[in-house]
Amino acid sequence: MSLEKEIEKRRTFAIISHPDAGKTTLTEKFLLFGGAIQTAGAVKSNKIKKTATSDFMEIEKQRGISVATSVMGFEYSGKQINILDTPGHKDFAEDTYRTLTAVDSVILVVDCQKGVEAQTERLMEVCRMRNTPVIIFINKLDREGKDPFDLLDELEEKLSIHVRPLSWPIGMGDRFKGVFKLYDNTLNLFSANKTEIAEDEIKFASVEDPRLEELLGEEAQKLVDNVELIEGVYEPFKKKDYLDGLLAPVFFGSAINNFGVKELLDTFIEISPIPQARETASRIVEPSEKAFSGFVFKIHANLDPNHRDRIAFLRICSGTFERNKFYRHVRNKKNIRFNNPVSFMAQEKNIIDVAYPGDVVGLYDSGNFKIGDTLTEKEDLMYKGVPSFSPEIFKELVNTDPMKSKQLEKGIHQLTDEGVAQLFTKSIGNQKIIGTVGELQFDVIQYRLEHEYGAKCRFQPVNYHKAFWLTTTNKSKLNEFIRIKQNNIVYDKDDNPVFLAQSAWIVNLERSDNPEITFHENSEFKTAV
Ligand code: G4P
Repeated sequence: MSLEKEIEKRRTFAIISHPDAGKTTLTEKFLLFGGAIQTAGAVKSNKIKKTATSDFMEIEKQRGISVATSVMGFEYSGKQINILDTPGHKDFAEDTYRTLTAVDSVILVVDCQKGVEAQTERLMEVCRMRNTPVIIFINKLDREGKDPFDLLDELEEKLSIHVRPLSWPIGMGDRFKGVFKLYDNTLNLFSANKTEIAEDEIKFASVEDPRLEELLGEEAQKLVDNVELIEGVYEPFKKKDYLDGLLAPVFFGSAINNFGVKELLDTFIEISPIPQARETASRIVEPSEKAFSGFVFKIHANLDPNHRDRIAFLRICSGTFERNKFYRHVRNKKNIRFNNPVSFMAQEKNIIDVAYPGDVVGLYDSGNFKIGDTLTEKEDLMYKGVPSFSPEIFKELVNTDPMKSKQLEKGIHQLTDEGVAQLFTKSIGNQKIIGTVGELQFDVIQYRLEHEYGAKCRFQPVNYHKAFWLTTTNKSKLNEFIRIKQNNIVYDKDDNPVFLAQSAWIVNLERSDNPEITFHENSEFKTAV
């Protein structure tokens, strides 16, 4: 098959949601439709149910599960579908943001009872940063929830995106009768606990068809009124607006009952983007370019501490990736080859010989890779957009076993290369500050430093609120600022100066006092030049 055909065939996306909205359940139903798994319950949720500190079993379980479910590939309707899993737990949000850089679109799951939740908003912010196309699935219609019109308003308001319902629920909770597909006037009658794959559908000439009343009783008139209202309020669905990330089509259903899932999947196949061109620091790379290129968006440590190797997840952006061929590691300026790259089909890992744009391959790595690294055939490209976001919790790393300083140094560098947390260093005294988005990471780091590197440490709280990467048009002003504020200045792993602010108020003050300096809330600026 030609490279173009391989690209045409692929759909690489992530399912995202606030924990408990139904992401795992929906993923599992997709895999069932694709025949990739045979039984329900085969996909394990990778959320950590307990957040109690020192619950290391949970941490280990999380790490194990997230390797197994990091990428789930399957074929459906002649397409190769790659679902990239994202951790549900908010302490692992960074991991999710990075995974979103490796997809071409997302499906956002919203619980009809809860509506838009905190995590949903943050995830959508990341999608909007890159205009990622989004389809919204409103889940759990078998339960009483918010009014569908109110839900749509809430989505538009809180997620700053236009929405367009493509299906409409008839009743909810105990009164839930089914879903009406607005684009082809098809009624899908609800029956709980469907196990079969096909969903029964009845096609109508229009919503006015008298047979609807026979089937739905008084709900039929309500449906007519609602459809009229929808057509009056919402613009017709435009695929281009969806592909530009401006408009999100909305579906309603119940993942656990396998209801509304097939139409979601079928529409997804029809409208979702094929692997897209991607920006590098120097130029835009088209997937159809002959020369291979790709970037690492996730690194996973081996669970077996005796084998220090890791798996780097590489998103292929252009050309054909081949096993045993030498590729250029752009940052290291080294040529490396991979004799056992793996692909992920549902829950199996298989060694592959070739892979195409949109695919994700797992590369065994002994410490060569950092998140964001680019591999190419020979050109010095650097893919943009695997940013570091400002951490929310900062602690100082204190070495408690001076005999193991080297191990600690190596361990903390490798763990932060994996993206577990961010490492900042003060120029005075070489003090190390670790920044994370959740408390859980500190337990993970302490545990892994001890078990994988034999190093001991503790974390001392420091009073910082947020990190701001600094750039300027006036070098001497920046140097002066760094000198005066040396207590708040640290350097990230690429030696960029970062200002750690004690409060939002302070940073606002510094911003107005120093108009020549830009305070960036994420490290995206690094490649934005
Ligand atoms: P997540 O990955 O987004 O965190 O959510 P997950 O799929 O694990 O679903 C969270 C809970 O919601 C699960 O129940 C799941 O069974 C339930 N759920 C998912 N879809 C629906 C739906 O359409 N209707 C209803 N009523 N419930 C749904 P749980 O009790 O937390 O877990 P479990 O014991 O069922 O696994």
